[in-house]
Amino acid sequence: MKIYVKISALSFIFFSFLVPAQAGDVVKGKAIFDRLCFHCHKPSYDDKFAPGLAGITERRDTKWLHSFLQNPSKMIEHDEYAKNLKASNPYNLTMPTLPEMQNEQNREDIIAYLDTLGE
Ligand code: HEC
Repeated sequence: MKIYVKISALSFIFFSFLVPAQAGDVVKGKAIFDRLCFHCHKPSYDDKFAPGLAGITERRDTKWLHSFLQNPSKMIEHDEYAKNLKASNPYNLTMPTLPEMQNEQNREDIIAYLDTLGE
């Protein structure tokens, strides 16, 4: 009996890692934006200290957004578009690597919110 409990507990822990992130939650994404992104970005087409993020999901695909949000400095080094973005940014600021953006679900949520901008 005990061993079964252990096995099922272990398989639960194991399989919970395999469950993919849930579809992005717009409300949670907006909360993340208001807390972490709005210091530099506007949710419109206008620049603040960084490009306005309206329409970003049309300019960039989801895979690119995940990579950039997770590791912007690596993207700025290796990705042509990110390199140009950095080079043309007049504010002497750069997109920070944020601990919250290391979490896939948080990225799904913020991308879901970004997708509602510019409609
Ligand atoms: C300290 C300021 C700052 C903060 C905070 C910040 N960013 Fe940025 N972000 C930038 C800058 C500056 C760029 C332009 C690239 C560069 O120069 O590094 C940028 C670029 C981007 C781009 C690409 C824009 C384009 O037009 O292609 C996206 C997407 C983005 N940021 C999303 C976010 C999100 C989402 C957050 C919050 C989780 C965030 N940023 C927080 C400064 C910031």
